[in-house]
Amino acid sequence: MQHELIIILDFGSQYTQLIARRVREQGVYCEIHPFTLSAEAIAAKRPKGVILSGGPSSVTDEDAPRVEASFYGGVNSPILGICYGMQLAAIDLGGRSEPAMRREYGHAKLKVLSGGSRLFDELPFELDVWMSHGDHVTALPPGFHKTATTGDVVTAMEDEARAIYCVQFHPEVSHTPLGKEVLRNFLFKVCGCKGDWTPASFISEEIEKIRETVGPDDRVVCGLSGGVDSTVAAVLVHEAIGERQTCIFVNNGLLRFREFEDTLKIYEENLHLNVRGVDASEQFYSVLAGVADPELKRKAIGGKFIDVFDAEAHKIGGVKWLVQGTLYPDVIESVSVRGASVTIKTHHNVGGLPEKMNLKLIEPLRELFKDEVRNIGRDLGIPEMILERHPFPGPGLGVRILGDITPEKVELLQKADKIYIDELHNFGLYNEVWQAFAVLLPIQSVGVMGDFRTYEKTVALRAVTSTDGMTADWARLPHDFLAAVSSRITSEVRGVNRVVYDISSKPPSTIEWE
Ligand code: XMP
Repeated sequence: MQHELIIILDFGSQYTQLIARRVREQGVYCEIHPFTLSAEAIAAKRPKGVILSGGPSSVTDEDAPRVEASFYGGVNSPILGICYGMQLAAIDLGGRSEPAMRREYGHAKLKVLSGGSRLFDELPFELDVWMSHGDHVTALPPGFHKTATTGDVVTAMEDEARAIYCVQFHPEVSHTPLGKEVLRNFLFKVCGCKGDWTPASFISEEIEKIRETVGPDDRVVCGLSGGVDSTVAAVLVHEAIGERQTCIFVNNGLLRFREFEDTLKIYEENLHLNVRGVDASEQFYSVLAGVADPELKRKAIGGKFIDVFDAEAHKIGGVKWLVQGTLYPDVIESVSVRGASVTIKTHHNVGGLPEKMNLKLIEPLRELFKDEVRNIGRDLGIPEMILERHPFPGPGLGVRILGDITPEKVELLQKADKIYIDELHNFGLYNEVWQAFAVLLPIQSVGVMGDFRTYEKTVALRAVTSTDGMTADWARLPHDFLAAVSSRITSEVRGVNRVVYDISSKPPSTIEWE
């Protein structure tokens, strides 16, 4: 089935993905493309509308990113320019945009002018909006009129005849409380969308697609990690082809406390997946012995994983496909506008797996964002314990034990981490943070226990708030909570006499310690 489509052209704004999520939340499917996509290619996709994102450049720069001249008349659908997109339309269509005296950044009060703009239909005449721009429009292009202002700045303009609408503010961010309605007006009142896309409709279509793609006798393997993405992907493929999919869940000896056993049980008993649990801990410990450098540890863990997985898949025989839980943010072509664009950080732990195994890929989630995957997971009956779990790195506790890794250190860290996570749940704080974990430091310090002096290890607690892991702030967890965790760890985990809390944000720190 062909769904209604909105195309977002990316000019490198940090908010581009947010625009896409806001559009999809209204039940309209959308795709992000680099600003270089030709007008002809856009028109061929027959979109209901096109959105020009914001971006870090100034339209007055000579090498500013632009659309081709035929764009405005050539895409055959309404256009919404946001921030940089507005400046660009202003200049391209014969108006003027100039650097403002000072950059406008933050909250502003927007005044909607009377005149019945469809973009502001049924909205109050005054709106709180979020601005972030250095240029502003100083002369409207022919055919346009002003539809809103902040102070004496043109904050919105439009040419209804050509269906081109522009806003200087960011309707996609939560700091513009009624921004959702503005986008909604564009989608439904201007573009005539009906809202025909939901994650639930996605499930049945995707199952159908997988059935068609995978030949009737082909066998499929899927690597499970215990996380949301691989689990949802595996359950979808299971719905499509049942037992012809074999899932492989490898214990690398660096998982959280009892995670291998508990998750395997959920896979088998609740989700009825065809899973092979492979406990390869000893093999991992042996390649890691004496390795202290973080990148060498990552390489050793990634390399071993490929070996173990490959050997297991060979036992099945006749395998042609590999399922991967790749998400949309990993496949969006990131635009490069003078180096200021957002490049998405990826960690290639098992890069090389499909090549080595000579398998074709099934990536059922490659059009979805994380929160959409969670919703689909819920519809598929996957337990909350898996859906709400904090992100966990592929190399696991391997990058949370600073220095070399031994089974004893893993056991100690698993115990400390479990206490921390259990208490987060007890205090109702687990879902308040984006990621939380304990780290084992490679130092010993002096302590006292009864009449004795001790010389033992230190555990650091890390908790961050974030939306995507690209930037993060340290979580302001209550002192009473930290006191409870510290006291439990030092009394229950043998070998630890000190607990510290990490108060660094990203940047300049990273979330993990290695
Ligand atoms: P950093 O430490 O780079 O972490 O601020 C950002 C997010 O990525 C996760 N992370 C990894 N995930 N393999 C992964 O699969 C890795 O090697 C890796 N290193 C960091 C980290 O847990 C956080 O969510």
